[in-house]
Amino acid sequence: MPGRLEGKVIPDHIAIILDGNGRWAKRRGLPRALGHKAGCDALEQTVRDCAKIGVKYLTVYGFSTENWKRSEEEVSALMNLFRIYLKKLIGIAKEEDCRCLMIGDKSRFAPDLIAGIDQLIRETAHCRKMTFVIAINYGGRDEIARAVRRMMHSYTEHPFDIDETVTEKFVADHLDTAGIPDPDLLIRTSGELRISNFLPWQIAYSEIYVTDLLWPDFSMTALEDAIIAYNGRERRFGGRKA
Ligand code: IPE
Ligand code: IPE
Ligand code: MG
Repeated sequence: MPGRLEGKVIPDHIAIILDGNGRWAKRRGLPRALGHKAGCDALEQTVRDCAKIGVKYLTVYGFSTENWKRSEEEVSALMNLFRIYLKKLIGIAKEEDCRCLMIGDKSRFAPDLIAGIDQLIRETAHCRKMTFVIAINYGGRDEIARAVRRMMHSYTEHPFDIDETVTEKFVADHLDTAGIPDPDLLIRTSGELRISNFLPWQIAYSEIYVTDLLWPDFSMTALEDAIIAYNGRERRFGGRKA
């Protein structure tokens, strides 16, 4: 890897809470929707940058189960952006050889948006270089509640030995992220020091990196900064230092 990442370990899985689109727009006297549009451009570049440097999984938080509380105007601007972005993403993902997946509860979206998500997943299923996971209408607590419902339904259909069967792996296999390794590095932009209901189960041992940059200003340099910081961490997973 040439440049600043030479000799550095690239995290297999980077998860990003892309925050600050609204503040970015406000600082420029623009409507929030234009901040989200600029955020989509930054996301496109980040998908390409991550694929280029050899990240295996990129998960981004695009819309939370709590974001429906925003004004009708903002929610509808976001839904329209998803529509446009999903179509554009098919081309980008194919160019970059990225398989796309979605986590979250898509049932609340309009039928055409659900069809767009399904099409993106279907048309990129053969891609191998990177897996791009989009969290929309995602909430960690909602994901866990849905997983518990799935486990209980499966018990009703085929009763099992609860003490033997319900292991951490069993729970993980019922989450939306089943089959996806846990994030190694969690990045949050805009300086907020909170998780905002993003992947509470999966980030148990992720390294956390917060930057004051607002999401539309995120760039390859910022990504490199995060990876360099990650390389300075000692991951112990609760074990003793050697
Ligand atoms: C992140 O930007 C994108 C979404 C949550 C959809 P925000 O819209 O949260 O931007 P700020 O935090 O208000 O600046
Ligand atoms: C988290 O950002 C959700 C996404 C990035 C999609 P928010 O802006 O919604 O989170 P809070 O309200 O600052 O916690
Ligand atoms: Mg925000």
